[in-house]
Amino acid sequence: MTERYDIAILGGGPGGYVAALHAGVQGARVALIEKDRVGGTCVTVGCIPSKALLDTSHSYWMATHAAVSGLHLTGEFDLAKAMARKDQVVKQLVGGIEQLLKARKVDLFKAEGELVSPTEIRLGGGDGPKSVQAGATIVATGSAVALPPIQGLKEAKPLDNVGALDLRETPKRLVVIGGGVIGMELGAFYSEIGSDVTVLEMLPAPLAGSDPDLVRLLVKALESHGRFRVVTNAKVTAVERRKNGTAAVTAEVEGKEETFEGDEIVLGAGRVPNVKGADGAGLAMGKRGVQVDDRMRTSVGGVYAIGDCTAASFENRGMLAHVASTQGEVAVDTILGHDAKMDYDVAPSVVYTHPELASVGLSEQAAKERCGEANVKVSRFPFRASGRALALGESDGMTKLITTGKEHRIVGVHVMGPQASELIAEATLAIRLDATAHDIIATVHSHPTLAETLREAALVAVGRAIHTASR
Ligand code: NAI
Repeated sequence: MTERYDIAILGGGPGGYVAALHAGVQGARVALIEKDRVGGTCVTVGCIPSKALLDTSHSYWMATHAAVSGLHLTGEFDLAKAMARKDQVVKQLVGGIEQLLKARKVDLFKAEGELVSPTEIRLGGGDGPKSVQAGATIVATGSAVALPPIQGLKEAKPLDNVGALDLRETPKRLVVIGGGVIGMELGAFYSEIGSDVTVLEMLPAPLAGSDPDLVRLLVKALESHGRFRVVTNAKVTAVERRKNGTAAVTAEVEGKEETFEGDEIVLGAGRVPNVKGADGAGLAMGKRGVQVDDRMRTSVGGVYAIGDCTAASFENRGMLAHVASTQGEVAVDTILGHDAKMDYDVAPSVVYTHPELASVGLSEQAAKERCGEANVKVSRFPFRASGRALALGESDGMTKLITTGKEHRIVGVHVMGPQASELIAEATLAIRLDATAHDIIATVHSHPTLAETLREAALVAVGRAIHTASR
């Protein structure tokens, strides 16, 4: 038995399910094929559960470290309870997505699918239809944990994003392999609830690709908590799990071998595109996944690809849920004949540690390369000069604005500080609208707010700083 659709989507993560809803609301007949829970890595074992935990750990940290503000609270962090709430948040969101799919009349097939031609996805197992036929297909199969060549890695059973988001007891010592986003976020969580965390990063700095000045400030702030440290130039080469359950992680640090002891190991050494289910369809593949253009078209007519399984996600902004979702909307709009394409300059990225690190647009270096060094101005405003940040008791960090030309056009914004994930939205819109520092200055910002730091940085850009002596 075969069902016919306008669009069939393989994979129900933030790329696939958003594409399905976006097509459904426009009246298209849509099939969504997902072998596990809808929501994918992001909703079930990634962005959402990690934020449910990080928000809780941050409340705990703030409550137990605010004696100076008059709060003398002590008490244990109940990890089992925090995990139970995290599970509840995930369950509620998955249920919500299923309801939305029904409301948009999207047919959800809970099966393992395989793209066998540009117009057909074969469905494995079960009593349902054997395949779905569609005018166009979208591959949204996501990514999987990368296993770097480290001796003894598999046997030592490191925690990946799934395992690390499901522990019931706080490990005393945690060694994290990789100082990317996953390593830094998970490390920050466990250090806030009491683990001694060591992050081992093989490059000279963690969070490659992020603003180096702000990364330095972030590491300093996280290390000032006392239970978190990042060891750089540390390439992990071997891991051993001992009989008593403890682990030894060996790394080459600055050319010398060193061993780090832990009770648990977290693996955050990257993710690889998952193209299983689409690898027989003849799509051109890059090293980092399916090759697509900025309208999400693959090399095969009628087949589109979005999200972590594409090389475009990795190369442009990293494997990000909101990039996958936007790519899903672009793919659907292209299929339906609308003019849409990806603009990665307005795709922000966030590291949800406390403080947070958020960026949008060009880095300082990229701006200088693209626009000429003499044409670029970098303006900074420190959070310690923000009344709201001081009131919050979170004044580490700064807002950094990158502008070009005499008109001070905004091409990049990088924020390290409290709630940077929320502050970056205004900056993203500014870049989208081609705004200048003058536009931000002419916009009245509520006082006292953290958002004022963007306006203050804009004032620095035009040489009219008010709450800082910087120029
Ligand atoms: P990543 O690629 O961001 O970082 C992996 C890090 O591991 C790199 O810095 C690399 O140099 C290091 N590494 C690799 N092998 C190593 C070794 N043997 N010894 C020491 N260090 C080693 O990958 P990550 O953090 O696993 O994240 C995967 C993807 O998921 C990324 O694209 C990331 O952007 C995305 N993500 C985004 C989040 C967010 O937006 N907040 C949260 C979590 C993941």
